[in-house]
Amino acid sequence: MFDRIAAKVAHLELSATDEIDNIVRRMQQRGIDDIISLGGGEPCFDTPQNIKDAAARALMNGKTKYEPTTGDPELRAAISEKLRRENGIRVGPEEIIVTPGGKFAVYLAFQTVLEPGDRVMLLEPAWVSYRSMAQLAGAGVVTVECTAATGFLPDLDAIRAAMDRSVRFIVVSSPCNPTGAVYDRYTLRGIAEIAHQYGALVLSDEVYEYLLYEGESYSPASEYDNVVTVNGFSKSYAMTGWRLGYVTAPKAVLEGMVKVYQHSATCVTAFAQAGAIEALTNEESQRASRQMMAGYRERRDLTMELLRRSGFFECVPPHGAFYAFPSYRLEMPSLEFATRLLEEAHVATVPGSAFGACGEGHLRLCYSTSKENLVEAFDRIESLVRKYG
Ligand SMILES: Cc1ncc(COP(=O)(O)O)c(C=O)c1O
Repeated sequence: MFDRIAAKVAHLELSATDEIDNIVRRMQQRGIDDIISLGGGEPCFDTPQNIKDAAARALMNGKTKYEPTTGDPELRAAISEKLRRENGIRVGPEEIIVTPGGKFAVYLAFQTVLEPGDRVMLLEPAWVSYRSMAQLAGAGVVTVECTAATGFLPDLDAIRAAMDRSVRFIVVSSPCNPTGAVYDRYTLRGIAEIAHQYGALVLSDEVYEYLLYEGESYSPASEYDNVVTVNGFSKSYAMTGWRLGYVTAPKAVLEGMVKVYQHSATCVTAFAQAGAIEALTNEESQRASRQMMAGYRERRDLTMELLRRSGFFECVPPHGAFYAFPSYRLEMPSLEFATRLLEEAHVATVPGSAFGACGEGHLRLCYSTSKENLVEAFDRIESLVRKYG
């Protein structure tokens, strides 16, 4: 049997969040049909109809060939206009690349900039893929812990203390997956300035930009030139399966990213890009997106109420994204707790430890599901806790 694969891949962890989804699918295939998933990171709404229609029209009209690697020119122009209008980022269409999801944009940036010996700074708890993507690029990771005591906001002094010239990126996800924290302007400026002092870049992951309940949206690239800004359509317009993201970065970085992209994925599916144009340019799409955001806010409020009532969880109120990251009162590692919840109560969650060591003792709950499911999931969690508590 052939089993010789590259060490960098052999040592890579599977994505904890994708794996939870896979286990859920396998259980469903075995006929278990009552699983409630608070595990994945997917919108519970469908893509707005006008966006689907636009892509279907483009498909039927023959938009079925390769596109430029950097993306459909009309889409890049629409993104340039969006970044100027909503984010104060002044970049022309030629300074934007359309990517197969925001995730691939992060991958391209890391592949382009990082070399062995370089490091990426993660403000943990952090999204599971940043660490693996840094490792795949041959780089190391340095972590700064953000705790519930500070609302999961990073301490600038701790970032300064952990900083050195080997750090090429400080990664910021605001609103944050998994904590729902929204970084304030002061903190984001501070991070950009520290990065600048050390010749590093900020990777500003803004994919949850529209899922903002309190606090303000601030894009560091509106004021700083050492920023790679990543965004996409997955969460804002419920388009996870379309694989559509985009990125803007300093010129040299962007040019490097295009080379890696040309020799790997080539381009984003042609007719899908017509859907993205419709998302950005038709007011009907914005209306649908705002409606979904109102739906997430209701679910956030309900989840906080259920967490409070449980008397068993403690949770920093999430101000954005669609996750709650509560700690729990039970002497059980989060991986075991999440496994028992899935196998015994048929509730899928993600163990906090997947997001870094400081996430231990927490669960990530994605509340992007129906309100009935949320209520039922908490009932089941409480029954399980009574059994083991
Ligand atoms: C923090 C964060 N960044 C980026 C992504 C990637 O999103 P996509 O590739 O679907 O645009 C995700 C997806 O879950 C995420 O949680």
